[in-house]
Formats: sequence, C-alpha cells, structure tokens
Amino acid sequence: MAKLCISLDTDKEKALKIINSLKGKDLVFKVSHPLYLQNPEILKLIKELNFKLFLDLKLFDIPNTVKLTIKECEKLKVDYLTLHLLGGREMIEEALKVKGNVKLIGVGALTSFSQENLSFFNFKGLKEMTLKLIEFGSSLGLDGFVCPGAFLEEVRERVKGKILVVPGIRERVKPFDQKFTLTLKEAKEKGGDLLVVGREVLLSEEPVRRVEELLSKI
Ligand code: C5P
Repeated sequence: MAKLCISLDTDKEKALKIINSLKGKDLVFKVSHPLYLQNPEILKLIKELNFKLFLDLKLFDIPNTVKLTIKECEKLKVDYLTLHLLGGREMIEEALKVKGNVKLIGVGALTSFSQENLSFFNFKGLKEMTLKLIEFGSSLGLDGFVCPGAFLEEVRERVKGKILVVPGIRERVKPFDQKFTLTLKEAKEKGGDLLVVGREVLLSEEPVRRVEELLSKI
C-alpha cells in the first residue's frame, strides 16, 4: 500500500512542530543533511514517536566507509536509506552485507543532471541512464529505488516487488525545480510506494492540516 513520505526540508523548529503535531499517523519522515546537522536528535524523536524514518544521505563513497555508515544507521533503526547507484557494484554489495533491517534505496540519475554530464558518462539520456542503473541495482538485490515520475510506469514494469519512491508530487504548489510532476493519485496508480511531498506541505499556511488532507487521498 502506498505511503505518504514528508520531506522535512526545513528548519528544525518547523520540523519539530510538524512531527509532534502528527503523532499516531501512518507517515514516513524524510530527513537529509541540512536538518539532521541542525538537530541530530530529530532522528531519535521520529523513531520514538513510531514514525518511519527515511534518511536521505545519498551515500557515495568507498565500500568501507559506506559499510560503517550503514552500521550506524542500523543502530539508529533507520527504516529507509538512500545510496547512489553510480557508487558501483562493490559499494552496493558491501552495503547489502551489513544493512540488517535498513531498506536500501538506490538513487539513479539526479534530476539536476545535465546533458553534458550524461554524454560524459556515455548515457544517451536521462531515461536510459535511470533504467540502466535501476536494473543494475535490482539485479544486486537492493530494496527499492528513487524513481522520477516520468519513468514510473516503465520502472514498475521492469522491477516488480521493489519499493519505488516518487518525488515531484504536486497538487497545489507550482513545480519549482521539479521538471516532471505527478499528483498523488497518478503516482499511486502508476505504481509508486513512497509518495514524497515536501513543499506541498511546507509552503502551506497550515502544514499539519495539509498533511491530513493528503493522507485522506491515499
Ligand atoms: O519540495 P518537493 O516536494 O519538490 O521535495 C522533493 C524531495 O524529494 C526533496 O527532498 C528532494 O531532495 C527529493 N528528491 C527529488 N528528486 C530526486 C531525489 C530526491 O526531488 N530525484
């Protein structure tokens, strides 16, 4: 069943208010570097309140460092953790050995990737790169992938039984830097599992109410 994942790309005061006001809801909170560097304790709070914790670190390092990082994530009871598929086979295989209960989510092409970057790596286009990397990660046994909405149906067809995380969900706010957007309903129907909303909630005057509205749509 699809789940709502709130991306806490905001300051710690606002993040704490949102988390504390949504106790008891079936939610995933996604935290990345800016927030946990402001307040590392926020990771523990999310778990103490029985939410799922998605740590979006997009790991890309030598296998040993990635392995040590994942062991720490296991101790913190992180539910979902991202790593770059471009990190390669050895990095991913080492990560899988120590993941324990952490679900490892592969990141393919960054949406900020330019055509120049793609040509350098010999990829024809964003779609080819995304599909190739996701199939590679799937063959190694990763739990899921971040999947741009534009390729969601095709990826769902190719990788069955994996968690697909879909960013770029839009209902009311404008796209901003997202090149391709989907509504919650579209993302769910096309096979998304974790539907990520950031600004859709954070720019609302009543973020908690907005989360409740979005939850009722899933
Ligand atoms: O505010 P918005 O809903 O666009 O936030 C989307 C979230 O998803 C951000 O935290 C962003 O870092 C993340 N993300 C993304 N595109 C990717 C991978 C992650 O937008 N390809």
